[in-house]
Amino acid sequence: MSAQTATVLPARRVQGRLRVPGDKSIAHRYAILAALADGPSTLANYAPGADCRSTLACLRRLGVDVNEGPAGAIIVLGRGFGRLCSPVDALDAGNSGTTMRLLAGVVAGYPFSATLTGDGSLSRRPMRRVIAPLEAMGARIESSDGRAPLTIHGAALHGIAHRPDTPSAQVKSAVLLAGLRADGCTSVTEPATTRDHTERALAAFGGRVTVEGRTVAVAGGQRLHGQALSIPGDLSSAAFWLVAAAALPGSRVEVEDVGLNPTRAALLDVLRRFGARVEVTITGVQAGEPRGIVAVEGDRTGVLEIAPEEVPGLIDELPAIAALAAHGGEVTVRGATELRIKESDRIATLVAGFRALGIEADERPDGFAIGGASTRAPHPAGVADARGDHRMAMAFAIAALAGDGPSTIDGADAVGISYPGFFEMLDRLTPPSR
Ligand code: S3P
Repeated sequence: MSAQTATVLPARRVQGRLRVPGDKSIAHRYAILAALADGPSTLANYAPGADCRSTLACLRRLGVDVNEGPAGAIIVLGRGFGRLCSPVDALDAGNSGTTMRLLAGVVAGYPFSATLTGDGSLSRRPMRRVIAPLEAMGARIESSDGRAPLTIHGAALHGIAHRPDTPSAQVKSAVLLAGLRADGCTSVTEPATTRDHTERALAAFGGRVTVEGRTVAVAGGQRLHGQALSIPGDLSSAAFWLVAAAALPGSRVEVEDVGLNPTRAALLDVLRRFGARVEVTITGVQAGEPRGIVAVEGDRTGVLEIAPEEVPGLIDELPAIAALAAHGGEVTVRGATELRIKESDRIATLVAGFRALGIEADERPDGFAIGGASTRAPHPAGVADARGDHRMAMAFAIAALAGDGPSTIDGADAVGISYPGFFEMLDRLTPPSR
């Protein structure tokens, strides 16, 4: 594999027991809360991908001491309430929407200005969804027509009751983090449930959060306390192996020590609906986050329809779910326009890549239909372009296992955003007889 391209050979099954890198969403939040807390925090199994590294680099620019600990841990020396430093240079969020949106909320309540920048992909993504509530709280934000770079002129904030139109854990988290520095109470009422890691992490760091239905509230002026925490494996990364196991009859994959937060685990029922056997064993709960072992065995290929109301709970798994249909079967997704504003336009990228791999794929304004009667495995091998998007590269790799020869993934190095070592693991899980 060159830096940019990976070759994926066909495989008839996947087999093995493995761990996946630390959860990206949880790692961002623990690093940020640790920076705001009094005292040091040790975060074991910190997510190794570039996105979570971007968060650490930004925190360092805000004066936070972050050190590498043993075996993938990081040690964050919390600065304590209100003690971040005015950054001399821009905060570069790289490819990471979570870094940009959450840190926008953090710095909005400080008496300095900070500029948040990102790469080409992040600079195309919508930021008004955080600009509007943070301005309503009292910050002033300059942007390039609602996109990065963002220059945030922090201010004394006041609490708001925010009701976003679109379900987004990043927006919810940005507003709650700003709320920690605001006068009075700040609440967010979401139109649909999204991942609740911020709520659980705030409580773990000694914060007070109230949750009532889909409303989450924090009081301003709270102090947080450093913690020793370990980050579970990322179910969104595990998703690619679980899907491969479900799609290839005769497979069995077991993922150990993976996060099983119910707001992230909807994929498991989707795999059951597709016809796979899925076993879940909870082995522990730390900082409110359940973790355990997930085993998936492929049995038969099925037909799946993902309805609009399921989309918020599956938003990062939809690329993997699409790859189910590459092996026979059919996957239709509706109500997923949010996919168009991820690291790439994931509807367009998925459909183009699957077609390039010889898989029938139909683009819809709000989703896609993959597979169907005319898609048979093996399908012709081909060359799929990930367009710089980590989850596209991994979805194409799983789809390419059903090719009739070696396929090529262009832009395969994007996996480093969330899953360094993905292609090495693919080699390990696909037996040599393929
Ligand atoms: C994330 C929330 C989701 C998700 C992203 C990570 C988070 O984005 O797609 O990968 O960590 O809060 P949205 O908030 O834009 O839905």
